[in-house]
Amino acid sequence: MAFPPAPRTYKVKSFGCQMNVYDGERMAELLAAQGMTAAGDGADADLVVLNTCHIREKAVDRVYSDIGRLRRDDGSTPLIAVAGCIAQAEGEEIMARAPSVRMVVGPQAYHRLPAMLAEAVTGKRVTDTDMPADTKFDALPARRRSGPAAFLTVQEGCDKFCTYCVVPYTRGAEISRPFKALIDEAERLVAAGAREITLLGQNVNAWSGEDSKGCAIGLDGLAKALARLPDLKRIRYTTSHPNDMTDGLIAAHAEVEKLMPFLHLPVQAGNDRVLKAMNRSHTVDSYLRLLERVRAARPDIALSGDFIVGFPGETEAEFADTLSLVDAVGYAQAFSFKYSPRPGTPAATMDGPIAPEVMDERLQRLQAALNRDQLAFNQASVGRRCDVLVERRGKLPGQWLGKSPWLQSVHFTADAAVGDLLTVDLAEAGPNSLRGHVLENAAA
Ligand code: SAH
Ligand code: SF4
Ligand code: F3S
Repeated sequence: MAFPPAPRTYKVKSFGCQMNVYDGERMAELLAAQGMTAAGDGADADLVVLNTCHIREKAVDRVYSDIGRLRRDDGSTPLIAVAGCIAQAEGEEIMARAPSVRMVVGPQAYHRLPAMLAEAVTGKRVTDTDMPADTKFDALPARRRSGPAAFLTVQEGCDKFCTYCVVPYTRGAEISRPFKALIDEAERLVAAGAREITLLGQNVNAWSGEDSKGCAIGLDGLAKALARLPDLKRIRYTTSHPNDMTDGLIAAHAEVEKLMPFLHLPVQAGNDRVLKAMNRSHTVDSYLRLLERVRAARPDIALSGDFIVGFPGETEAEFADTLSLVDAVGYAQAFSFKYSPRPGTPAATMDGPIAPEVMDERLQRLQAALNRDQLAFNQASVGRRCDVLVERRGKLPGQWLGKSPWLQSVHFTADAAVGDLLTVDLAEAGPNSLRGHVLENAAA
């Protein structure tokens, strides 16, 4: 078979969490720095990078169907690279099962993509799932482009080993990127147009480092340093682990004006036996007390969480405890999932698998409660005046979409531009968004 010439256009498709999306952006920048250009929407790219997620079984099934769908009418395929967490966990299996895949690159090795590509175009199939000690970040090109709301990975990996979760295996041990590298990257993002930065990490609040004076700091210190960048207006962070929620970080929610009043703090379940079996290392009570302290520091904070229903052995009464926890907290939004057994994790071999129809039914009840609370939170916001960061145009003429401080989508009609921070009166609430009126004297 004649091998295709070196690819000139690329497409990176990301399927996972925000960190996976961040990695996808960095891979695209890396390919652009090689002189390649992004293929337009719907266009056929010479190189397709499938940036995969391994967190649940469905995510894995999807990648194989995506690989199949890349086959063109004449039977040829683009150069296919599988990146991300499935690449890390199942690289060999992908190579064996999908002959059209030419490259498999793990989430800690993607800075080597150009070198791999040079080999792949000679017809070789190349795999790199190393977790090298040197950080990939140093090898990536400087950031040149950004939308108004940017992601910045500050921490990677996880040492918590929840019994259901693949992340400690696909992403490796917890590491924090150095302070200076983060300030530099943030400065570049802001220079490129970012007005909001979301600090990312699998356990972002485990970030630690040394500031420019050599003092040990945590995520609160990093947020304070970033808040000093004049053109950066908003700071967010995700995902946090309850055990890494320090006093300093809680206090920062009261002290740092640019730190947005939103906290995503996954709890997973509302029953202590289940939490213990999950190896969550917090209890329902310790979680609720933590939220009380956060609310004391920042009374208007919007809370968000993650939940798993149908963990092995979960009884109806234990599931009902999750519903009670939801009632007690009143989340502004949340994600909920059916438990998915992941190969190699301790929970995958635990007794008491829950029948699919029971899982379905529990998920429906949980989501009904979460949707109810999300709508209630949005309705309670009506009448508030707040800043909205304009992110993109809406569907209707003159309509724009942006985010409130509480991460709600707000649409409004005004003479605006992407990146504006406008003062808006929230006027009407739906389950997933609010309508607002822009004040005449919009804030710059
Ligand atoms: N580090 C974060 C979340 C990482 S994964 C934390 O600890 O909270 C995102 C979410 O996916 C998790 O919070 C969990 O709710 C869900 N998840 C992880 N593994 C899962 C599995 N095996 N089955 C179903 N949901 C899972
Ligand atoms: Fe997974 Fe638990 Fe680590 Fe979160 S804290 S990434 S759920 S092991
Ligand atoms: Fe998925 Fe990997 Fe993120 S498994 S959730 S892409 S860390």
